[in-house]
Amino acid sequence: MTALSAEGQPPLDCALCDRLAAFRNDNRNKFPEFYNSPVHSFGDDQARLLIVGLAPGLRGANRTGRPFTGDYAGDLLYPTLVEFGFADGTYGADPDDGLTLRDCRITNAVRCVPPENKPTGPEINTCRPFLAAEIEAMPRITAILGLGLIAHNAVLATMGEKRSAYKFVHGARHTLASGVTLFDSYHCSRYNVNTRRLTTEMFHDVVGSIRSFLAPDG
Ligand code: URA
Repeated sequence: MTALSAEGQPPLDCALCDRLAAFRNDNRNKFPEFYNSPVHSFGDDQARLLIVGLAPGLRGANRTGRPFTGDYAGDLLYPTLVEFGFADGTYGADPDDGLTLRDCRITNAVRCVPPENKPTGPEINTCRPFLAAEIEAMPRITAILGLGLIAHNAVLATMGEKRSAYKFVHGARHTLASGVTLFDSYHCSRYNVNTRRLTTEMFHDVVGSIRSFLAPDG
C-alpha cells in the first residue's frame, strides 16, 4: 500500500482507490479553491477519545480540510463537544476558527470524499490501514465513538473483532477485547437530524455518557 506520510496520515495524492482519486481530480478542476485531498485527523494523539466519522462531505471537510468542518454534521458535533468539555472555543465552520479539541481526536473511516457521500465496501477496506495507524498512534485511547454503522464496522474490523459479537445500536457501548470501549451513535448527518432519527438530545445523551465514562483528565 501507499506509505503513510511522515505524520502517519494518507499522502495528499493517495492513489489507493481509483474512483476516489478520479473524483478528487475532477473536484480539483471544478473547485480549485477547495482542499480536495485526504482529510487528516484533528486533535491530539494523546487523547483518550477517538471519534470516527464516515467520510468528508464534498463542500464541507473536503473544502476546508478539517474533519466535519463546514459539513452540516459539524454543526451538531462541535457544539456538543464544547458543551461536554471535549473542545474549547466556538465552532465557526472554518479551520481557522480557533476551536481546539480536549482529550479528543476526530477522524473518518474513509479519508477522501466519495461521490454522493457513499464509499464502497472495497474503499472502506482500503482505507482501513489508516484507521489502524490512527488507533495505534494513540497510546492513551480508552473510548471510541463510532458515528453510524459504517464507522462502527470499520472500528471492529480494525481491531480484529467480529461484527456478530457487537451489534450496532444507537446508545450502546461495547467493551472490546483490547479494553477500549466503543460507543455507538447514529451519524449526526443532515438526513438523520432532519428525519429526527437523531435528535440533539439523543446525541447529547451519548456524548454525555462518554463524559461520565471518561472523567475529565488531569
Ligand atoms: N464530514 C466528515 O468529516 N465526516 C463525516 O462523517 C461527515 C462529514
